[in-house]
Amino acid sequence: MSNPSSWLATAIEIVQLAGAIQLRHFGQELEVNKKGAIDLVTKVDIEVERMGRALIAERFPDHCVLAEELENETIETSNQPRWVFDPLDGTVNYAHGVPIFCSCLALEIDGRPEVAAVFDPTRQELFTAERGGGASLNGEPVRVSDSSCVLDALLCTGFPYDIHDTVNQMMGLFGAIVGRARAVRRLGSAALDLCYVASGRFDGFWEQRLKPWDMSAGSLVVEEAGGCLSRLDGTLFDTHGDQIVATNGRIHDELIAVTKCYCLPGDLSD
Ligand code: IPD
Ligand code: CA
Ligand code: CA
Repeated sequence: MSNPSSWLATAIEIVQLAGAIQLRHFGQELEVNKKGAIDLVTKVDIEVERMGRALIAERFPDHCVLAEELENETIETSNQPRWVFDPLDGTVNYAHGVPIFCSCLALEIDGRPEVAAVFDPTRQELFTAERGGGASLNGEPVRVSDSSCVLDALLCTGFPYDIHDTVNQMMGLFGAIVGRARAVRRLGSAALDLCYVASGRFDGFWEQRLKPWDMSAGSLVVEEAGGCLSRLDGTLFDTHGDQIVATNGRIHDELIAVTKCYCLPGDLSD
């Protein structure tokens, strides 16, 4: 059986199993390896990704997987269903014992997420979305906020692992927005940042140099909660691009007027 409800049920099962693994090891002494100067990976990232890949292969042998830590197979045709998986979003928080992290999973067809699940095990918050079916938090529908200007907005952002090379541009944009908004946060989990926009906790979020597994699930949750997505210059959002501005829609143009002045060149997509 392969249909959107069975996809969503599997996505939920996997992110909840992921949460159980994450909590079992959280706060313990963990071996942390470096993928780059500030880019970390733990045995939990790997264990969760193996679990997710195995369950997908068992349930949907003709689907493929794009995930962060292990080798990805090449997609055969553009419409082959592809699971886009971040086994642990917020690894730096996790490795430091900060309880802000999640697992996020989307099923994409033609590069567009159809179902999504994001689970924060610390707060036991499960965000889900199905294209055309709305977004929910623990089964209750969620909607974006109704703030109508950046001055009244609580915003969020994140910084990429090449920040040491791009810090001046990043700080230029950060400063420009801090100087206009009510406040700006940096939680350290892009998927949760997006779900917080979807549920009206944040009014908007932007980040550059993201990967599909950071954005795919959360972007569908935002869309289905009535939010607006684009690139920093206001053009069409693509989960396989490398950047996102996600808002409640009402502040989108005002935020884009600032972000478009600071886009970094090029997409570093998968
Ligand atoms: C990171 C987090 C972080 C964002 C980084 C991501 P990871 O993902 O989402 O908030 O700022 O750009 O790479 O490495 O913890 O899966
Ligand atoms: Ca991530
Ligand atoms: Ca990750």
